[in-house]
Amino acid sequence: MGTTAGMRRAGTVRPPPLQLVHLWILLLLPAPATAAVTYDHKAVVINGQRRILISGSIHYPRSVPEMWPDLIQKAKDGGLDVIQTYVFWNGHEPTPGNYYFEERYDLVRFLKLVKAAGLYVHLRIGPYVCAEWNFGGFPVWLKYVPGIRFRTDNEPFKAAMEKFTEKIVHMMKAEKLFEWQGGPIILAQIENEFGPLEYNGGAPARAYANWAAKMAVGLNTGVPWVMCKQDDAPDPVINSCNGFYCDYFTPNQPYKPTMWTEAWTGWFTAFGGTVPHRPVEDLAFSVARFIQKGGSFVNYYMYHGGTNFGRTAGGPFIATSYDYDAPIDEYGLLRQPKWGHLRDLHRAIKLCEPALISGDPARISLGNHQEAHVFNSTEGSCAAFLANYDSNSYAKVEFDGVHYDLPPWSISVLPDCKNAVFNTARVSFQTTLMKMTSAGAYEWTSFSEESTSLDSGSFTTTGLLEQVNMTRDSTDYLWYSTYVDIGQDEEFLMNGKYPSLTAMSAGHSLHVFVNGNLTGTVYGGVENPKLTYTGTAKLRAGSNKISILSVAVGLPNVGEHFETWNAGVLGPVVLDGLNEGQRDLTWQNWTYTVGLKGEALELHSLSGSSSVEWADVYPNQPLTWYKALFSAPPGDDPLALDMGSMGKGQVWINGLSIGRHWPGYKAHGSCSSSCSYAGEYNENKCQSNCGEPSQRWYHVPRSWLNPTGRNLMVVFEEWGGDPVGITMVRRTVGSVCADISEWQPSNWRIEDPGRAEAPRRPKARLGCSPGQKISAIRFASFGTPQGFCGNFSQGSCHAHRSYDALKMNCVGRERCTVGVAADVFGGDPCPGIMKKLAVEAICG
Ligand code: GAL
Repeated sequence: MGTTAGMRRAGTVRPPPLQLVHLWILLLLPAPATAAVTYDHKAVVINGQRRILISGSIHYPRSVPEMWPDLIQKAKDGGLDVIQTYVFWNGHEPTPGNYYFEERYDLVRFLKLVKAAGLYVHLRIGPYVCAEWNFGGFPVWLKYVPGIRFRTDNEPFKAAMEKFTEKIVHMMKAEKLFEWQGGPIILAQIENEFGPLEYNGGAPARAYANWAAKMAVGLNTGVPWVMCKQDDAPDPVINSCNGFYCDYFTPNQPYKPTMWTEAWTGWFTAFGGTVPHRPVEDLAFSVARFIQKGGSFVNYYMYHGGTNFGRTAGGPFIATSYDYDAPIDEYGLLRQPKWGHLRDLHRAIKLCEPALISGDPARISLGNHQEAHVFNSTEGSCAAFLANYDSNSYAKVEFDGVHYDLPPWSISVLPDCKNAVFNTARVSFQTTLMKMTSAGAYEWTSFSEESTSLDSGSFTTTGLLEQVNMTRDSTDYLWYSTYVDIGQDEEFLMNGKYPSLTAMSAGHSLHVFVNGNLTGTVYGGVENPKLTYTGTAKLRAGSNKISILSVAVGLPNVGEHFETWNAGVLGPVVLDGLNEGQRDLTWQNWTYTVGLKGEALELHSLSGSSSVEWADVYPNQPLTWYKALFSAPPGDDPLALDMGSMGKGQVWINGLSIGRHWPGYKAHGSCSSSCSYAGEYNENKCQSNCGEPSQRWYHVPRSWLNPTGRNLMVVFEEWGGDPVGITMVRRTVGSVCADISEWQPSNWRIEDPGRAEAPRRPKARLGCSPGQKISAIRFASFGTPQGFCGNFSQGSCHAHRSYDALKMNCVGRERCTVGVAADVFGGDPCPGIMKKLAVEAICG
């Protein structure tokens, strides 16, 4: 665990002992003579010690510096040894040669906080990161370097990549952040999942991958480099696995350790997509499977997902929330039981560490779908993992003369080869349901972004231009405007059968105006950003103005040469139904305006917002800016904006962008009310929000608010909506649930020595947040209740004193414990049937 790691390193900058046994690996790594981190076939070796390392991804710009210490502490308390992060090039070098390392991009501060907590760092420099981050982390200016092609054997690209990688490595060295310098960085990463692209890319791709590895190794970081999903990673670079499961994975050389750089804790949300959930029983099962196979490094991607503030979301169409169903939620609160169950798993794994690092496991079959993996050390320690791969049935297995019950799709961990201290499917932690309670509505004024007038920054040229080239991603918005002359003799002027306008766009969304009137809005989706607008054009005799506002929603972050993918109205744009038949507008003169007037006026800022006259608010006005002044809600609960009444746009608090809002985009997918943990998981398995907004709440960091004075909120709305419906909400624990079988050993604590695998009297433990109390019992049933937290119902067997027992023991208290046995609930309601207790307690 982190503490031991911290103690081992505490405050020292010392040359590590050069142990002979590791000399050969030191020779492999052209690291400084003092290198303290190496590896062998079993594990990463820190100061001569093989380590089983539990790691978690926390991306520093996806939260605010004020949240970092708490997030890191929660990661440490959750049993993590390592924090893994990408380095976000486009955040650090917004224009060529101008670097930015402040605020959310203060990488050094973040890493020093990790060190202060006694944890290690895996620094994934990339600089390609994917990560659902705008343009995969590449600065957009890079695309316009003459002759460039990304991620292949291309000199301009390699030069830029090397320069940035070197910049970061030098910075880390100067700040003494590598382990051999007394710092926290024990591992680095170059590139990201290039292997699958290399397969298609042929010789130049192979040359590039090889170059990237050599370039990285040549930087003498003194820590091993990793290339994830790169089966041919050249020595000494370690190839590693990413996925929902990685127990199938073997590194490309027998002398490299088995590492899992991305164990996906959930999945991301796209606008228009559902919200994915990964049951913790399955996540824990996948991790235990990997460890039992001999894996020695597991990184949770994400451990805290956070928020895509501003315009940092990639995609296109990646949502502002990057919650990821991670063990720490977007707001920095523990997601239970995910965080707690994984903490228990980590404790169990750590108890096995002496045996795990010693040698390869012996595999013993225990049945058709059951097996044991047994690790023995020369010093006599023994650890065993008992697995039941059957996703439908319990298994009773015999191991070393003792019987063990294994739930479906689960692994029991026996750190002494005798006592099962943990089973991946037996969750003893309560489930916590969060609630969002209103903490204020606002008085708004409005400013109309006129839909037709073009300001001085415009220019006119023949034909349709690509959007990213025009905006260089300085804004989501690009206006395309043209004029159409209509003769007096057009038949449609007489018969009212107006022509139809068709505009084809490479993405991602657009609004069409004819003579200043909005005639339609269309948008693509994560599967296909391209779109076609077709609508009636109410033209009149004489000159007509057609204006199209094309809107980008995050640049792509993944795919073959995604840097070449276009956005914007590339045509054709045609009118049908004129006397002449069809008129092609594609090659006429078009006038371009980059960005909105409100953006040029900086209406989102304090000074900009006071430079214009604001007017009264009318609902459902497209292209409108709204402004409100407000006081910060007291307390320290995390805050969000409920944008449910709005359509699409962006929101700023005190001049800082909390991101794109798009509650108007409803989630398409297949949701079901139940979600079994058992059986192979993929991101489509346990989805929620079908038919609802993909994202309704938008995180407002507390530290962005002035707690005593006035705060400025500015909303730009493209579609319409009613700002009066916008409220600030507080995120707190709403209710807590326990769902525990009468025989389940839920109260087994790893610290309890000498236990045997035998049923004991389990207990339900419930607790609200500090400062809250259990105010009522919403549901309680000892018997055969069904459903899940928030949606329990009674089964055919129910003890009538269930509710009273909970009420008596819990209401009015911050936390309580109730035994799960018939006598607690006034006797056995259905003898001979296996029963459980399901409770939902309200926190207030
Ligand atoms: C991986 C990638 C990550 C992230 C993840 C999905 O393939 O390496 O950066 O994009 O997929 O969340």
